[in-house]
Amino acid sequence: MQKLLDSLGPVCAIIGAQWGDEGKGKIVDVLAAHYDVIARACGGANAGHTIVVGGKKHVFHLLPAGSLHEGKPVLLGAGMVIHLPTLLEEIHTLEAAGISIRDRLGIMRSAHILLNYHKQIDGAIEEGRGSKKIGTTKRGIGPAYMDKAARTGLRMDALLLSEDELRSEIAHRAGAVERMYGISVSVDEELSCLLEAKEQLHECLTTMDVIYEFLYTKKSSILIEGAQAALLDIDHGTYPYVTSSSTTAAGALQGLGLPPKALTSCIGVAKAYCTRVGEGTFPTEEKGERGDRLRERGGEYGATTGRPRRCGWLHIPSLNYASLLNGFSCWCITKLDVLDEEPEIPVGLTQDAKGNTPYENFPGWKSKTAGIHSYTDLPENARKFIRSIEERTHIPVNFIGTGPNREDLIVRE
Ligand code: IMP
Repeated sequence: MQKLLDSLGPVCAIIGAQWGDEGKGKIVDVLAAHYDVIARACGGANAGHTIVVGGKKHVFHLLPAGSLHEGKPVLLGAGMVIHLPTLLEEIHTLEAAGISIRDRLGIMRSAHILLNYHKQIDGAIEEGRGSKKIGTTKRGIGPAYMDKAARTGLRMDALLLSEDELRSEIAHRAGAVERMYGISVSVDEELSCLLEAKEQLHECLTTMDVIYEFLYTKKSSILIEGAQAALLDIDHGTYPYVTSSSTTAAGALQGLGLPPKALTSCIGVAKAYCTRVGEGTFPTEEKGERGDRLRERGGEYGATTGRPRRCGWLHIPSLNYASLLNGFSCWCITKLDVLDEEPEIPVGLTQDAKGNTPYENFPGWKSKTAGIHSYTDLPENARKFIRSIEERTHIPVNFIGTGPNREDLIVRE
């Protein structure tokens, strides 16, 4: 592992290569042990990862999965939109399990606050779209970034204002929201959430200096935990069926205020098949019985919304596109074991002008890969499948997920 870590270098980003839910949490969990600082750059509580805390499963939306590594500084970047009650709930969950977080949590003051009414607006806009709905997580992400882009957003540094000043900031916005969307906003409720957060989080607010101190003064290594994934990127994804933030490696750097040259590596995470939640194109979608099988075996239900995920096969052009966008150093291919029972594994190769996708059909391995730790112990057909990903993307597969447990991971030097 050390050789691999050396090759990744001190600033590594972990980026989803499909439409999210690639299972980034596990590789983060493994690598976080070797990095000094864990950072999240963009997005909000639309992300979801299941974490076992104190023997109980919890779904976290804002704190990075790496937060479980006690003692490591955790940064929430300026590119994020933060729903404060959700963040407080996650902090309290960790603290109740005896894991202190506030003493090592830094929230960039320029991150935006996602208010409760952003969720209401999200719902109203989706409803208004009718059959053209995006299928958002209804967490208010689009409207919070709308406010940010319109320069009407409220940033985390608002928590340094007095109660009266905060009330006036909210009242002013509530009036505009009511006029524009006909939504009634409870100023008192918004204010009480802000005051609670002010009391509990003001010591976590940091200026941008913190990241430069880590990088240049303390020479800390930084693991950047990407949220969502390349094909959901606002600029480069399958617009309009995307999220509202920049989900690429470049977006992660921007969200944290890091210069591009700081990034030493980027790991592309892709499932051995593919899933998508919400609407939008999905060239290799499998709507029949085989798709249902992938969903059941892979537990493909949204961590944030509980929605059944659409399932299908790996799509090489998408992987290559994600790789061009992000400059992947290597792949982490997750959930290989979900394919264990498949007699045949289709992989989408190209897309013709009519949008049809020709496939290469790999013979399945029909044996258990779950829990295998060594590449050489994989069945030959599984190795062929992995080798084909390498050959078709020209990127090595250095990590292979073979099950839900922390240790179910093959690391190839
Ligand atoms: P929003 O980010 O809630 O606005 O949703 C926009 C689109 O991105 C929808 O199709 C969501 O299902 C999708 N999306 C947002 N976050 C995630 C995620 O963490 N995993 C998978 N899909 C996501």
